[in-house]
Amino acid sequence: MNRIAILVSGASRGSNMQAIIEACRAGRIPDSEVVAVIGSRDDAPALQKARTLGISTAVVNPKEFPDADMYADALLWVLQKAQPDLICLAGYMRLLPKPIVQAYPWRILNIHPALLPLFGGRGMYGLKVHQAVLESGLKVTGCTVHFVDENYDTGPILLQRCVPVQDDDTAETLAARLLPIEHETYIEAIRLVVQGKVRVEGRRVRVVE
Ligand code: GAR
Repeated sequence: MNRIAILVSGASRGSNMQAIIEACRAGRIPDSEVVAVIGSRDDAPALQKARTLGISTAVVNPKEFPDADMYADALLWVLQKAQPDLICLAGYMRLLPKPIVQAYPWRILNIHPALLPLFGGRGMYGLKVHQAVLESGLKVTGCTVHFVDENYDTGPILLQRCVPVQDDDTAETLAARLLPIEHETYIEAIRLVVQGKVRVEGRRVRVVE
């Protein structure tokens, strides 16, 4: 069984998290289970949803630690207890601490609501991303599932899917059109990884079906 841990943030709704949990249970992500959801606030909507779905949760709040190293140690300890084969960031908005990236090389995935390397980086999350897309005048946008490295949104890209930008779109309508595509793209990416069909070769990721 592939053990998946999901990291969310304080404000996460948890829709990607829920899609992953349900895809594991339905066998769409084969031989896999979500063993833990870790967030930064006990009352985060995503953690509440995870508990309703019967998944064990843990809280590691960066604000409760005197410095970033101690936060990283605590998060690493909680992750090690869960013994994940794969870690999925689902609305995790911080830079993942280096010790965690180093402990799980090419075993951490993130979903981003734009076609990276466009519209990524520090502070680019949620509706801000869609607002920037609209301001740029682009006619297509999309989502990216990528491996996590030590910087914001720069790791090797595994999958991308596009959606059109319509003339009357707002950040909200664009986000709503993209969200179900995010869920499907993330499920597909995780399936490829757990089935051993993914090779990271420098910046390029090859899928061997
Ligand atoms: C998703 O749209 C995800 O792509 C985005 O946060 C949202 C979380 O929603 N992630 C980022 O912006 C990362 N930079 P969810 O809690 O419903 O899955």
